[in-house]
Amino acid sequence: MNAIAKLKKPFDALTESVVDQYAINFWIQKLNPLWSVNQPLGKIVHKEVTATDTISLKIQVNRLFKFGEAGQHHPVYVVVNGIRYERSYSLTQLDDQHVLLTVKKVNKGKISNWFANTAKTGDIIEFGQPFGDMTLPQDASPLLLLAAGSGITPMLSLLTELNKQNGFNRPVQLWYWVKNNQDAAFVARFQQIADKHADFSFKVFATQAEQPAERINASYLDNTQNLEQTTVYACGPSGFVSTVEEICSAAKAVKTEAFSMSLVDQSEIGFVNIILTKTNKTVTIPKGQSILSSLEQQNIKPNHGCRMGICNKCACNKVEGSTKNLVNGAQNAEPGNLLKICVNSAQTDLVIDL
Ligand code: FES
Repeated sequence: MNAIAKLKKPFDALTESVVDQYAINFWIQKLNPLWSVNQPLGKIVHKEVTATDTISLKIQVNRLFKFGEAGQHHPVYVVVNGIRYERSYSLTQLDDQHVLLTVKKVNKGKISNWFANTAKTGDIIEFGQPFGDMTLPQDASPLLLLAAGSGITPMLSLLTELNKQNGFNRPVQLWYWVKNNQDAAFVARFQQIADKHADFSFKVFATQAEQPAERINASYLDNTQNLEQTTVYACGPSGFVSTVEEICSAAKAVKTEAFSMSLVDQSEIGFVNIILTKTNKTVTIPKGQSILSSLEQQNIKPNHGCRMGICNKCACNKVEGSTKNLVNGAQNAEPGNLLKICVNSAQTDLVIDL
């Protein structure tokens, strides 16, 4: 063994111990709060309002931060009133040290309100590993990007990456639904891209403007050519996303992500029993409600991350029983299936490996 390897071993052993990692972080962060032996961290270096109730934070990240691919999400951990919360956000890489995090303030949203009202330059934020498959396709198929509300953030990330890669060698359209025109974020940025690339165009549809635009529906696709060769991306509330899946079923590929989904399906009434094989418990939960939320209401705390059906952290094996996806309504009665409990409800008694 060479001398460096010998020296490295005791240091690795020291930094691999969780207790020692906390101790080392404690001391080195007194010198620089971004330093850590094990945590991907970021420091807010700039904060600005980018649209009504929408703020963007420029964040300097440390060397442990993994950028991931454009269009993916990162878990973001913040401590509010002494409690640590996890949320998922789509970040845009600005350069090799900075990312842009954009947050839309939602009514009663503890974390979005913290970002909008309390977070300030110098604050440190912890990140997790990137996840999600709403990334750019390998081929050069035309792209149709559909966003509603804060669903615009992964689209900004995809467009930024296309711009960087000279990837506008195909038609790229962005359609963006907001309530009012002043709710639309990054319009100047989209205009800049449109000015530079003839193949890129964007439209903003304001559904509560004086002359309101229609919500997304099939008529928007009437003049769309080559839908069969087009890759469609959609991000927005669950109703928006499920409409896109329905009306774009003829597209070459459809990649969607939903947020702020209704975790309750009012059409389902009654209760079912769930057997949890690993913890050897049987619990009764309401039909039509996210299995994750139902278990949490019973003080059972399954592992989870995004609560949006993207990160797979909550996925477990379903041994038997029938479930319904709360985003797209798909039912699944197959035994031995991977089940994301954050976005599925139980329709019958279930046995799951939890
Ligand atoms: S918590 Fe991320 S997929 Fe369920």
